[in-house]
Amino acid sequence: MRVTVVVGARPNFMKAAPVLRALDQRPAFHTTLVHTGQHYDENMSAAFLRDLDLRAPDVCFEVGSGSHARQTAEVLTRSEQFLEQNPQDLVVVCGDVNSTLAAALAAVKLKVPVAHVEAGLRSGDRRMPEEINRRVTDSVAALCFVTEPAGVAHLQEEGVEPRRIKFVGNTMIDTLLHSRDRALARPLPEGLPPRFGVVTLHRPSNVDDRGVLAGILGALESVQRSLPLCWPVHPRTRKRLAEFGLEEEALALGLRLLPPAGYLDFLGLVARASLVLTDSGGIQEEALVLRVPVVTLRDSTERPSTIDCGGNVLAGANPASIRTAAASMLARDPGTFQVPELWDGQAGQRIAEAVQAFLQQGAWL
Ligand code: UD1
Repeated sequence: MRVTVVVGARPNFMKAAPVLRALDQRPAFHTTLVHTGQHYDENMSAAFLRDLDLRAPDVCFEVGSGSHARQTAEVLTRSEQFLEQNPQDLVVVCGDVNSTLAAALAAVKLKVPVAHVEAGLRSGDRRMPEEINRRVTDSVAALCFVTEPAGVAHLQEEGVEPRRIKFVGNTMIDTLLHSRDRALARPLPEGLPPRFGVVTLHRPSNVDDRGVLAGILGALESVQRSLPLCWPVHPRTRKRLAEFGLEEEALALGLRLLPPAGYLDFLGLVARASLVLTDSGGIQEEALVLRVPVVTLRDSTERPSTIDCGGNVLAGANPASIRTAAASMLARDPGTFQVPELWDGQAGQRIAEAVQAFLQQGAWL
């Protein structure tokens, strides 16, 4: 059974690694790892492959950056060429980035079944490109692997047949549990005091508008008066800070701006932090399992279990809400945070088992 696993952007790597590993443990599978090249900087891509012990990709498309249409079209075209030249029995895609959508679409049009890892999540906000990517990918996937019960409910509401929906847990948490000890052994950035918070920001809605970004910087400055903050800066955000003339302001406010961190360094940083302020999706989940409170700088989350479990609160981009949310999350006892069902390190194995059963059963269309 020939199975291709597609990765493209930073948050894909940790979701794909346990699936690839579990497939490779089964002699029934011959796997191919495809990297679309949506992310390409050393610290956005290669550093992750190393940290995760992922083998070098078998095929690289090197699509790079571009508008949504260009990037998606490039991955679509390259995926089609690859699948025509290398027929596959199934394609695995992860998460909600442009590469996920494009590879899934190319495969299903060639009548190759698609398995979507992290299916069913919905923020309800169609202004987010990720929301469109998720919905389209789920609508064409033959197998929807879901991380939390809300995902099952969304897929059912959208009319996805029950046999396509598989609640398997969270492969990103498989990777976290597998890597935690190594992450904790990593040194912290020089000069960081023992009690600190971590910031990450990259959503276009937060960083592409000067007024919004400046407001967030002001809120971070006020949080930082009681909790020193360090901030590994995403390349999109670094570009915007420079463009808006805000980089020096951020430094003047005392924020510790760092280059993007590798997987283990970042996990080690979050694991020892007292608070995370982020607009990332995955980090909300990782921090919950590490029992670090999170303030999410968005108005919605596609990961409601992180809120239900006590570890996360939505603050949007409003400076006053961010300040209030930070104070309230710092007052919570992380010992009371719950870990969602099936976030137990075995999701990759469940997926490999389900893929094998699916392919053995034959016709799927
Ligand atoms: C992408 C995903 C987003 C995910 C994020 C994680 C989409 C629509 N967005 O957003 O869901 O949360 O990755 O990081 O797929 N750049 C570099 N080096 C790189 C990659 C990007 O400098 O290795 C810069 C380029 O200027 C590029 C910009 O960052 O134009 C944005 O990159 P892109 O992949 O388009 O979107 P992200 O903001 O990274």
